[in-house]
Amino acid sequence: MARVRKAVLPVAGLGTRFLPATKAIPKEMLTIVDRPLIQYAVEECRAAGIEEFVFVTGRNKQPIEDHFDHAYELEATLEARGNKQVELAQTREATITTGKAIFTRQQKPLGLGHAVWCARPWIGNEPFAVLLPDELTLSTPGCTAELVALSEKTGGSVIAVMDVPREQTSRYGIVAIRNDDGTVAEVTGMVEKPKPADAPSTLSIIGRYVLLPEVFDHLDKHETGAGGEIQLTDAMARMIGRSPFHAMRYRGARYDCGNRLGFLKANVAVSLARPDIARESRALLASLLKS
Ligand code: G1P
Repeated sequence: MARVRKAVLPVAGLGTRFLPATKAIPKEMLTIVDRPLIQYAVEECRAAGIEEFVFVTGRNKQPIEDHFDHAYELEATLEARGNKQVELAQTREATITTGKAIFTRQQKPLGLGHAVWCARPWIGNEPFAVLLPDELTLSTPGCTAELVALSEKTGGSVIAVMDVPREQTSRYGIVAIRNDDGTVAEVTGMVEKPKPADAPSTLSIIGRYVLLPEVFDHLDKHETGAGGEIQLTDAMARMIGRSPFHAMRYRGARYDCGNRLGFLKANVAVSLARPDIARESRALLASLLKS
């Protein structure tokens, strides 16, 4: 199988669950401690050896493009000050090399499947990763790196899954599996947001995928599914049986930053894990809880 070199980052969503914060700022630019959510996704890709990014954007998403650009005035000012090497390095970390990022617009909110389909001219005929930046995953070497390694082994598509309480199945794509070794299993079916009674399991898709380009053959049909949207889950389901398709139980930390409490939890957890602020964060939390 060809090496996974490219990732699609769907970032067109309106972020309605975070209004009014997301009125003028893309939800992907909300920060977890000191960097925007979207940067964590890019760093996760880099840890997986991915160097090319297709951002599927919408109106009002320009700050994402600016974030990954060279910030000439800022960098020149930091350089001139002489003692701002750390800040300069942090700024440069958030730059994507010229020619390695594409920003394309999903002009209508027709669903995740449609968003991924919008990236097809830049993906071509090679396997690629998809990361939903609302979902923050933190581990070493990283969820996407694990998926890439697994897809190289299986020669097919792979997705990360996690167990959810049955009453939550209607929030996620849910997979049916067989030949489960406890970590990796073959996917035999997939359904988007099933009612608890109809869910084939409680293994939910967590927004991390490595897909063969054949997924575009199915997305090309623009068939609508759950919620009247073009669903990535439906297109993936049609690939089963035609090429290998596996689910990998992800065991690292994962935060659903698409809702306020998940976002708060991510901020607290990342503060507690950052060596430079861990001790103070712990003390701060303890004092807040006492008051
Ligand atoms: C999307 C996918 C769903 C997946 C979820 C993970 O749903 O369609 O299969 O489980 O992301 O966050 P959304 O949250 O965009 O409705």
